[in-house]
Amino acid sequence: MIQSNLFIVMSIIAVISSQSVRGKDCVCELQNSESAFPESKLVRVEITAVECLRNISSEKRTEVDRLVLGLQHRLKQLNENVAMLEKEDNGNLYGAVSLRIIQLELAELQDLLDKLSRTNTNNQQLSTEIADQLQDMKNTMEELESFDSTMVILKQRENERIKRDLKLCEKELNATTPPPTPFMGNCGLGQMVNVSGPKIYSLTVYGTSYSFGAWGRDANPAPGDENKYWLVVLSSSNAYGHYVRQYNSMSTILLGIGPTDIHISSSNPTTNTIQGPNMVMYENSLYYNCYNTLNVCKFNMTTRSVTNVALPSDAGFNSKFPFAHLGTTYAYTDMDFAADESGVYVIYATTSNFGNVVIGKVETSTPPVLNQTWSTTLHKKTVTNTFMVCGVLYATRYLDKDTEEIFYSFDTKTNTERYDWRIHIRKMQANIKFLNYDSRDHLLYVYSDAYVLTYDIMFQ
Ligand SMILES: *[C@@H]1O[C@H](CO)[C@@H](O)[C@H](O)[C@H]1NC(C)=O
Ligand SMILES: *[C@@H]1O[C@H](CO)[C@@H](O)[C@H](O)[C@H]1NC(C)=O
Ligand SMILES: *[C@@H]1O[C@H](CO)[C@@H](O)[C@H](O)[C@H]1NC(C)=O
Ligand SMILES: *[C@@H]1O[C@H](CO)[C@@H](O)[C@H](O)[C@H]1NC(C)=O
Ligand SMILES: *[C@@H]1O[C@H](CO)[C@@H](O)[C@H](O)[C@H]1NC(C)=O
Repeated sequence: MIQSNLFIVMSIIAVISSQSVRGKDCVCELQNSESAFPESKLVRVEITAVECLRNISSEKRTEVDRLVLGLQHRLKQLNENVAMLEKEDNGNLYGAVSLRIIQLELAELQDLLDKLSRTNTNNQQLSTEIADQLQDMKNTMEELESFDSTMVILKQRENERIKRDLKLCEKELNATTPPPTPFMGNCGLGQMVNVSGPKIYSLTVYGTSYSFGAWGRDANPAPGDENKYWLVVLSSSNAYGHYVRQYNSMSTILLGIGPTDIHISSSNPTTNTIQGPNMVMYENSLYYNCYNTLNVCKFNMTTRSVTNVALPSDAGFNSKFPFAHLGTTYAYTDMDFAADESGVYVIYATTSNFGNVVIGKVETSTPPVLNQTWSTTLHKKTVTNTFMVCGVLYATRYLDKDTEEIFYSFDTKTNTERYDWRIHIRKMQANIKFLNYDSRDHLLYVYSDAYVLTYDIMFQ
């Protein structure tokens, strides 16, 4: 019975004694020491325990027999438990538990002895002898335990920690290793490495009245329109907008001088009203989510006419799949629009993609056409906003009121996803309601709790 325990204890003797993780190399040195664990002492205790039991049994006292039978039964159970542990092959637990089992056996022997000494005075002699032996065994066990707690289990724990560190190191190494395919090669920008700023941080002419809005420049302007800026605020219920304000330059938008308002509809909310803060201006047309529908609307600023195309019928709208973080959901942000060097995209989520982000290419014809789509594994409600650079979608998440993190990318050219970006955006206000990239000045345009901001993206 105790034999298999012995085997178990022996198997933890080869203890890993020295390990190290060297910087970024992820080298782990493992050295097997001599059998540092004093197993011979343990073996002696075990043998004495067996003998002791046998001697007690041989006394053939009915009371004692009953007790011994009970103890044997208990030992059998312990052995079965150990056999189970063996199968699970959990080295750590294994070592700790085998010592614990012997501890329990000793306690039971002590219990047995106490009962034995109570049965009758004839047992006194035997009891005294066994008591001495038991005391010896206990002393040895204490020694073994102190040895164990400082060496065996400790070393195994350390080994676990080092293994964990090694994994972490490997992960970080993976995170900082650029992917093998040339990233953003088509745009010649290199890999995004950092976001600095804000460069511009200002209230608009509306003051703090409107917490939701959007702004920027035309991503593909007509000649003469290159330096125009547009601004849309959701002037009704933080949800709807019905006109586009235009300025001739950055300074006029910041000072609020000489705007031109172009109305889409006469009031809020009604057919073709802008719903939600995520939109984009491309070739003098505004692309946005049309009021109360799953339509992508295109407002031609020249003709002031709206055409549209519907997203798939299981796409979210009216706050079904909004941008969000643990504390907040951003209402009516089911659809995000982004433009980059290659055109206009709509970012949304569908039931068939489990509420995860789908990227759709919007052909800028009249009416617009939804062309190629890409399904991602990015859950829309864990994201606070997205933008596109060179055919790559980036997503941000809320870390705290001061920091937003670019943490995700999806490359539409290679269909590869990454969740390991750690690029931080320093916020001035807690909530980013609108975020887009301008491929002409390489700036991020942000609308955050009534403030307009720009940030510089740095590429390698
Ligand atoms: C068991 O009994 C034998 C024979 O009586 C004796 O020599 C031995 O020392 C005893 N062992 C223990 C552990 O009491
Ligand atoms: C790191 O990348 C290698 C090669 O792609 C892979 O085998 C390994 O599992 C990765 N490790 C982690 C922790 O992601
Ligand atoms: C990123 O930019 C910020 C602000 O300029 C700077 O403090 C930080 O050190 C930069 N981080 C890296 C990794 O370049
Ligand atoms: C807006 O409408 C005008 C007149 O039909 C047309 O020439 C122009 O191409 C349209 N703009 C876009 C971006 O479709
Ligand atoms: C859809 O995309 C493909 C591939 O980019 C392109 O060839 C095609 O013209 C697009 N369709 C429309 C309607 O624009």
